[in-house]
Amino acid sequence: MSSDAAIRIRGVSKVFPVYRQPHHRLLQLLDPRRDGRWHRDFHALQPLDLDIRRGETVGIVGRNGSGKSTLLQLICGTLAPTTGEVAVAGRIAALLELGAGFNPEFTGRENVYMYGAVLGLGRAELDARFDGIAAFADIGEFMDQPVKTYSSGMYVRLAFAVASNVEPDILVVDEALAVGDEAFQRKCFARIDQIRDGGATVLFVSHSAGTVVDLCDRAVLLDHGELLAQGTPRNIVSRYQKLLYAPPERVGEVREQIRAEGAGGLDVDEAPSVAQAGAPPGVAVPKTGGASRAYWDDGMVPSSTIAYESRGARIGDVRIETPGGERVNVIVAGDEYVYAYTVDFARTLAGVRCGMMIRSIAGVEIAGAATSTREDAIPAVERGASLEVRFRFRCLLAPGVYFGNAGVLARGESGEDYADRRIDVAMFRVMQQPQRLATGFVDLDVRPEVLVAGVA
Ligand SMILES: Nc1ncnc2c1ncn2[C@@H]1O[C@H](COP(=O)(O)OP(=O)(O)OP(=O)(O)O)[C@@H](O)[C@H]1O
Ligand SMILES: [Mg+2]
Repeated sequence: MSSDAAIRIRGVSKVFPVYRQPHHRLLQLLDPRRDGRWHRDFHALQPLDLDIRRGETVGIVGRNGSGKSTLLQLICGTLAPTTGEVAVAGRIAALLELGAGFNPEFTGRENVYMYGAVLGLGRAELDARFDGIAAFADIGEFMDQPVKTYSSGMYVRLAFAVASNVEPDILVVDEALAVGDEAFQRKCFARIDQIRDGGATVLFVSHSAGTVVDLCDRAVLLDHGELLAQGTPRNIVSRYQKLLYAPPERVGEVREQIRAEGAGGLDVDEAPSVAQAGAPPGVAVPKTGGASRAYWDDGMVPSSTIAYESRGARIGDVRIETPGGERVNVIVAGDEYVYAYTVDFARTLAGVRCGMMIRSIAGVEIAGAATSTREDAIPAVERGASLEVRFRFRCLLAPGVYFGNAGVLARGESGEDYADRRIDVAMFRVMQQPQRLATGFVDLDVRPEVLVAGVA
């Protein structure tokens, strides 16, 4: 293993025996020669190679059941591979899916010492670190209660506190952080940053596209136990989303496309992207200082974008701008912004008009607009032409996160139809307003009054 390698995986696969009946497991044990009679093999991971360099932060994405946790367990040594070899350089601390790790009968304190011992830390070393671990976990008296009495949030607090306070060379985090509350999650991400800055390698499974793009240097896409592609987080996340939101009849085709682009799990970054996601290049830098000014938050990447098949037009560069032209995605209620995108025409289309729609996280359509009525549509847009579509609006929305759609309509033989359509292509947040009196999604500029109508 070369000196800059942290993890080296060669030909590693995992096959689980699946028993039709629970007692078949016992029958298999009693009758080992008749292998295959009592179970069938389930291939959770196909043989794969993967190299992770020292100091890299790598995100692993993939649909449920794609083999992410299995891969992490193989790396951590809590599962043995069916074939192949895993080589790990240095101390590896892991926060695996709930249930792995602690002994439920022992107290938090006892588990800290046991876990530390497994990682090779001596008693004195653990004594010295214990207060730091307890302070990070912040679970109070529960530290001396059996872990089986913990809520899932407490469990994760303690598990992360230990894993991140033992100076690991490699930190492995499987999703689990999503269980904690937002404040704790933020604390964990800050801690992960610190660990990375200290030169450690971080492996991270997350379903949050924004987190992977924000945190990782590289990402790996697993699907059906196969390493489909690896590359920059933005590229991999956009492919993952394409797979996640492909209509069922197209999933196979999308997989093939991704596999071809990242042949043999090679880096896909030289290949053209199959989906647009995230911030376009050259966007404004985040300004997280004063809260009353709109700014760009790089981590806000929609994870639910759907691009329909283009029929002669292609929507691009959907964005929100200030009237001065600065790209922003954290905006201030009451201020004016422009929801803008471009449309490139590959064919001459008749009766063209464009639209936008803002939806809530739950998908409720809150506010939309079209550039004209059907009667006033642009009579024809020539092939090769481009439109810049701009909807200027005042933000009357409640604080929270919203998603934007964009669509181009054209007149066809059977009436008006979409020439291109993007769902959840933009994502933005309206900042908190501590003094807000309006409730619900939209501020109707209501001026409340309370009059004393009489005294009994
Ligand atoms: N011990 C086991 N016995 C049998 N099958 C298993 C076992 N562990 C995992 N599997 C199967 O292997 C596949 C991969 O599981 P894994 O937990 O690695 O997926 P994952 O990508 O982490 O999924 P999720 O996003 O839901 O956490 C799944 O189909 C799962 O049912
Ligand atoms: Mg998992």
